[in-house]
Amino acid sequence: MSSATLKIAALAGDGIGPEVMREAIKVLRAVEQKFALSITLTEAPVGWAGIDAAGQALPEATLKLCRQSDAILFGSVGLPDRDPTIPKEQRPERAALLRLRKEFSLFANLRPVQLPKALAYACPLRPERQGDGLDLLVVRELTGGMYFGQPKLTEEITDGTRHFRRAIDTMVYSEPEIERIAHVAFQAAQWRRKKVTSIDKANVLENGVLWREVVTRVAKDYPAVALEHMFVDNAAMQLVLRPTQFDVVLCENLFGDILSDEAAALAGSLGMLPSASLGATTGEQTFGLYEPAGGTAPDIAGKNLANPIAQILSSALLLRYSFKLEAAARAIEGAVSAAIAQGLRTGDIYNPADPAAKKVGTQEMGDAIEAAI
Ligand code: IPM
Ligand code: MG
Repeated sequence: MSSATLKIAALAGDGIGPEVMREAIKVLRAVEQKFALSITLTEAPVGWAGIDAAGQALPEATLKLCRQSDAILFGSVGLPDRDPTIPKEQRPERAALLRLRKEFSLFANLRPVQLPKALAYACPLRPERQGDGLDLLVVRELTGGMYFGQPKLTEEITDGTRHFRRAIDTMVYSEPEIERIAHVAFQAAQWRRKKVTSIDKANVLENGVLWREVVTRVAKDYPAVALEHMFVDNAAMQLVLRPTQFDVVLCENLFGDILSDEAAALAGSLGMLPSASLGATTGEQTFGLYEPAGGTAPDIAGKNLANPIAQILSSALLLRYSFKLEAAARAIEGAVSAAIAQGLRTGDIYNPADPAAKKVGTQEMGDAIEAAI
């Protein structure tokens, strides 16, 4: 694939999105040079930036660009302060992010959580719980469950003389939906420590019972991978008690949303965590959307304070999963490790007690990573 042109849509979005995207693009351009790639990268507005530019969180032109691209490098969207000014269906989270996930059937969300030894102090857990450093992968189903199940509505109820509203969300999973995400988890585990922990609430939910049955069946195709089932409440507890027991954590949409934030906290900062949202692979092509796990962080936006590493590592995942450019992906990951080894730290991962640490801004961090490519 490396001889072809890589068509990338870059949607920076809101808050810190534009400034971390700038650093990621800089690093991608350095990799393009080094590996003699040909990257066509086109920027387009999304989120509040889309509303301000074209009246919609996902403007038609932006969606069209995405359709014409091989992969989307996404920043972040949403500015809670502005939410009350428009109906909830038009807000960026639903109208842009969830819409893109559904539009491109991005059913597999991979969230690798790593705590490098050098950042052990940033982890909220005591050192003895961190083992030799944390390294787990959350595989989250992204286009089903309560996020999209119908009916989904708020209705007016009249009960005698009482009037009130009632909200309904519906959790729905079909066997094929569970099967395809389970395959993603087992395949990922084959390249890792060969263990899948499947999360459900089979003691209460119909969905949980079906989930457990289907995952158990899919596991038979992967005899080298150990499968374990865990209730979601216990998993939330085990993640803080003994996180080193986990390798691949397989979850439905809502449980994965919650547990991936919890797991992310263990890595010290959301500013370090990339993610990949992938559709089905057809031939050589895997369409994907790549975004940092953290949000728009409006409080620090535009101040050169944000950590660009999650966005930069997301571009590494883009090269790996959508373009199968493993060496280029590793070059980016290696350059990030090098910048950390040099002691460079944005505010979120800065440890004043470390004499070798040097506090830097968004741009300086990006420069150092670019230079290390
Ligand atoms: C995430 C986010 C989104 C989600 C929000 C912004 C809609 O929390 O990607 O985890 O809930 O999926
Ligand atoms: Mg979330």
